Parts: sequence; C-alpha cells; structure tokens
Amino acid sequence: MSAFDPAVFSRHSRFDVDHLSIATIPASDLVAEFGTPLFVVDEADFRSRAAQWKSALEEAFGVSAGSVYYAAKSFISKEVARWVEQVGVGLDVCTGGELAVAQASGFPANRVELHGNNKSEDEIREAISYGVHTIVIDSFFEIERVARIASELNVLQRVYIRVTPGVEAHTHEFISTAHEDVKFGFSLASGAAWDAISAIRVEKSLKLVGLHSHIGSQIFESEGFAAAAAKLITLLARFKETYGDQLPELDLGGGYGIAYLPGEVTLDPSSVLNELAEIVKRECAAAQIAVPIISIEPGRAIVGPTTTTLYTVGTTKDVELDGGQSRRYIAVDGGMSDNIRPALYGAEYIAILANRLPLGPTQVSRVVGKHCESGDIIIRDIELSADIQPGDILAVPATGAYGYSMASNYNHVPRPAVIAVIDGKARLIVRRESIADLLALEI
Ligand code: LLP
Repeated sequence: MSAFDPAVFSRHSRFDVDHLSIATIPASDLVAEFGTPLFVVDEADFRSRAAQWKSALEEAFGVSAGSVYYAAKSFISKEVARWVEQVGVGLDVCTGGELAVAQASGFPANRVELHGNNKSEDEIREAISYGVHTIVIDSFFEIERVARIASELNVLQRVYIRVTPGVEAHTHEFISTAHEDVKFGFSLASGAAWDAISAIRVEKSLKLVGLHSHIGSQIFESEGFAAAAAKLITLLARFKETYGDQLPELDLGGGYGIAYLPGEVTLDPSSVLNELAEIVKRECAAAQIAVPIISIEPGRAIVGPTTTTLYTVGTTKDVELDGGQSRRYIAVDGGMSDNIRPALYGAEYIAILANRLPLGPTQVSRVVGKHCESGDIIIRDIELSADIQPGDILAVPATGAYGYSMASNYNHVPRPAVIAVIDGKARLIVRRESIADLLALEI
C-alpha cells in the first residue's frame, strides 16, 4: 500500500496532484529548508486533538470531570508544552528531565502531575519545590521519601497511589502495565494497595486525594479500561466504608489507541469517554459512592497522528528470495535511532513517496535505516513504486508518539530536527543535533 490515506496522516496533510503537503507546504520545500530525517508536527492538529480530549472529558463526566494530563513521555518540547498550556490541558511528567522541560516553558506547576516508578530524591525535591499538583506514589519506599521531603519543605503534598488492578490489556507485553507481574504500582489483589493507603494516611505531610491506574498503551478494547475502573471503584468503596469519608479523585491513565495503517482507527475521544463515564457512574452507584473527579492521561492519542517523518532515500538494493521473487531494500537516512518502535514492539507503519507521483508498477519492498543491524527496519513489508530512487523523499505518518521521545544516538547518528507547521508556515521547534553536540559530551 503506497497510496496517500488521509486516515493515517495528520489532519492538514494532502496529496496535491503530485506531491504531499502538510499545512499547505510541499514536503520537498520542508526538506529543502530543514533537511532529513525530519519530524513534521501539524500544530493545529495537535491543538485540536488536545482540546477534543478536554471537551470530551468535560461532556462525558460533567461536574465530575477532572483534568486531561498530556503524557509528556509521548513527545515533549518547550514549544509543545506551551501548546498544551494554551489549550488548558495539564502535563504528566515522569522524570526530572520532563519536569525540567515543563519548568523551562513556564508551565504552571499546579497543572503538573509527577509519575515514575523510581523517582530520585532530587526529582521529588524539585517537583515539590516547583509546586506540582499531584505526585503519584508508586512504592512503599517512596511513601517515606515523599513524606520526608515534603515535610522538610513544609509542604502538604497531594498524592495519588498507583494501583495495579490485575487487568490484562490487549496490547504488546512491553506496553501492558496493569497485570500482576509488573514493576508499577501497588497490587490490588495482594493487599499492597490497601497497605499503601494505610501507610500514607499516617504521614502528616501527605494528603491522599485519589487512586491512579494506567493499564497499558495502544489499547482499543474498552473492557480493559472498564475493568480497571470497576476495580478501583471497589477500593474507593472499601476506603469509604473503613474511614467514613471518600477519596475524591480517580485518574484512569492513558493508553487510547491510534491508527498506524490504512483500515485501522484512531479512538474517538467522545465515544471512549462517554462509554467510560457510563461504566464509572454505574459502578459508583452499585458501590454506593459518589462519582469521583475523573482525570486521564492520553499521550499517543494526542500527538501520535499529528506527526509525519520525512526521510531521503539513499540507496536501493534488490535481494533474491526463495522461489525466485525479489525484495527491494530501500534505505533511508534515519532508522531505528528515530523510530525504535518496529524493532522493539513489532510496530507497523506505512510510507508514501512524497515528492512526486510514482510511475509504473509497484514492488515488494522493505524500508530500512542506516544503522548497522539487520533489525534496523522501519517497514518490513510494503508495496512501493519500483521507480523509487536515491534522492526521493519518503513520508512515514503517525510518528508523533514515542518516535522522537525514544530517539537515540546509536551509531553516533545525531537526532533529527522537529518542526511545527501551521497555516503555510514552518518553524523549527527542536533543532537537529550535530556531531559537535555529540562530541561535546566527551571529556
Ligand atoms: N500515563 C502513564 C502512567 C503512562 O505510563 C503512560 C504511558 C501514559 C499515561 C500515556 O500512554 P498513551 O496514552 O501514550 O498510550 N513506548 C511505547 C509506549 C509506552 C507507554 C508508557 N506509558 C510505545 O511506543 O508504544
């Protein structure tokens, strides 16, 4: 499949007669100005997806709507943090580095939530000093650490506990996070979550305001979200029964799936959240508790579909396969250093020729990078025009989430530039790394 499919490209991408354009700018103009590999973020698309999740949460939950926290791990930069701030969405950060980006962009601390299964004391101190709204506690050691540091800083810190509800999410093992055998959170089944609640309640510097769960990522079935919500509501009910008052908040994490290939769907915020709201209301009624303030943390569903990676083809090579067929290897100027997802999760992508109309027949192809590994594959099997040549531009859509954010310098390849395009204008938001940047680390 090498045709342009609007369902997997950002909302302001078009194939105009003979070339791809994003926000009305031809891909080849972007490449001429900024080089390749290049992450092109459709800014208006990002803003509208973030706003859609916010309004869908508000519509679905009404007075019980909490915050949408954009998961910074999916992709963050100072400029992106400013968009998030302007749309009125909060930020979920899980390291000191992500927190530093929020701080550098002037992101309001009272809209930041701190995650992480092994936060360092420095990270905890920095977050509390900055005034983050909520810290999501992940282990017993952390209860003591956060309590001690908050006390030293004379702060009454709002905290959630991360609960592992024992839900098997239908996604890749590496991005499934709520079954029992994981490093995250406090298990519900073993009683650890209940023990954590008791341990936090005696800490004078901590204010337990709610529970959190995140079941995994790139999930489409609503059963997983529903099962997790139901289990957490049971825990809220037990809390109320035991202590009389009710924990007021519930954060159900992120994980909403997007389309990478033609024929796949990107979950619609309203449908997902309306369904979730029905379940939450029903379970709360059954458990005889008030509907808590519900927050969510979508990352991929906001940024994933907004971004396209542009690559320049460097070489092509035909390899004979058993049975007389041949495969064309099309090597581009990036690879597993800017998109590790195919190698790590078997993730699938498509590519199209972006700078001209393909001519003639197609051919079984494999799009690969420039790294010294056979596993450096961006697309394992795709029909691409047989006339693709060195110098052509390939566009790979839906690379906004966990692309740049998981980029590496493997083989001392500098990381790509990231640009934002909107209304016919393109600007750099993260400059291309240089060899000098890499050498600058050496003593
Ligand atoms: N909240 C928490 C606590 C999380 O751990 C995550 C993702 C999110 C929210 C956002 O999930 P999203 O809405 O983006 O699915 N590198 C993997 C994904 C790892 C997700 C880690 N946690 C990938 O490329 O598929």
